Amino acid sequence: MLEVLRDELGLTGAKRGCEDGTCDTCTVIVNGAMARACRGPHDRADGKEVLTIEGMGSADKLHPLQEAFIEVDAVQCGFCTPGMIMASKALLDRRDSPDREQIARALGSNLCRCTGYAGVLDAVQLVSAPKKNGEASGPTAQWGAQQRADAQDKALGISQYAADLTMPNMLHGAFLRSPHAHADIVSIDVSEAEALPGVLAVVTSKGVPGLNRFGRVVKDQPVLADDRVRQIGDAVAAVAAESPEIAAEAVSLIRVDYRTRPEVLDPADALKEDAPILHGETNLLAEKEIKWGDVEEGLAQADFVFEETYTTPWCEHGYLEPEAAPAFLDDDGVVTIRTATQHSFLHRAAVAETMDLPVERVRIIPTVIGGAFGGKTDVSCQPVAALLAMKTGRPVKIVYGREESLTSTTKRHPIEIRCRTGVTKDGKLTALHAEMLADTGAYASAGPGLYIRAGVSI
Ligand code: FES
Ligand code: FES
Repeated sequence: MLEVLRDELGLTGAKRGCEDGTCDTCTVIVNGAMARACRGPHDRADGKEVLTIEGMGSADKLHPLQEAFIEVDAVQCGFCTPGMIMASKALLDRRDSPDREQIARALGSNLCRCTGYAGVLDAVQLVSAPKKNGEASGPTAQWGAQQRADAQDKALGISQYAADLTMPNMLHGAFLRSPHAHADIVSIDVSEAEALPGVLAVVTSKGVPGLNRFGRVVKDQPVLADDRVRQIGDAVAAVAAESPEIAAEAVSLIRVDYRTRPEVLDPADALKEDAPILHGETNLLAEKEIKWGDVEEGLAQADFVFEETYTTPWCEHGYLEPEAAPAFLDDDGVVTIRTATQHSFLHRAAVAETMDLPVERVRIIPTVIGGAFGGKTDVSCQPVAALLAMKTGRPVKIVYGREESLTSTTKRHPIEIRCRTGVTKDGKLTALHAEMLADTGAYASAGPGLYIRAGVSI
């Protein structure tokens, strides 16, 4: 049903956050009951009334729930907001004045990564409260704050995220990704994929016109893997086709012969003498000593010295909007990419260098972002979207699925921190000696800067 709503009817208010029934960004109301559009075949809705966020209100006449979400600032990135509002409506349609716990239970599977849930509960209570003998039932938010300039569009479900954008004659791009953490690429056969009707382009590293490497600090990540893959999810080839289904089928027809190599999964193992080397001659990306004062003297002044090892885990950013990028050549032949980005100039530089274009021939137009938390600083699908658009001469949109987003994108780097901390009896800190070993994964990303920040922030 989500495909019909979004791709055929252009009702993009229902969002595609996971497509497996987990996030509820696709919530609609079918014959009065809340439903996940991604989970039901559209013919199950035959003869029934399907209400989407587009049917709730308009800029001239907002639905009370839309007004309330704006009023209590329950709208941040807005990617979850249409689903939240639809689930709230379904609740209020069947229950007159739900209390906070009932609202929380009803919205329990509607995920939000940035607003937090208190504001959402406040918004629903704001609408339902007057029904309770004229008495408000106690929302907690501080209302009356400055309203976000884009809150109304997000509450109406008309904000255009990158995956919502369409263009005439648009193709759909998809990646073939590595199933191996570390392997040589012996050969790639794209002939079957190229022969599939509806396929306009199949590209591998050989088709990358410029430098086949990008990176925020160190250019170590290939646009498309050339001789080797270094992580599960590395991009190996990409396809542009007339529909997402044809693109997916073409990807399945690409044959890659891998020769697996020993994996390296842990930074301590990576530093061992016999460790498999991922880049150049060493796995050590960067090393730095930050010193202030005399640590040993401080420890000597301490009444107690504690020695502990702490670890922070990998962390997926968990933004609800997966990565997406429609790319096209504008009337002047400038490669133009609409994408959710936290660093448009970095993305422009990466596309220009990898596509062998001067930067003024590349334009990044940021879209509304459905959450990022640092994760959309790194480059993802933008260079390949540009490459496919250049190769076909037609607009090409790439949209990651949730699994692809989780598998292939940068995560927050885990750190092992060994600390010696000196303190006095009255709780004064006299010295801190911290040795930190950080894991950036297969590619540097922002690693060389982040570990310094970790060091000074500890
Ligand atoms: S539950 Fe439908 S897109 Fe996530
Ligand atoms: S506002 Fe809920 S996910 Fe961003």
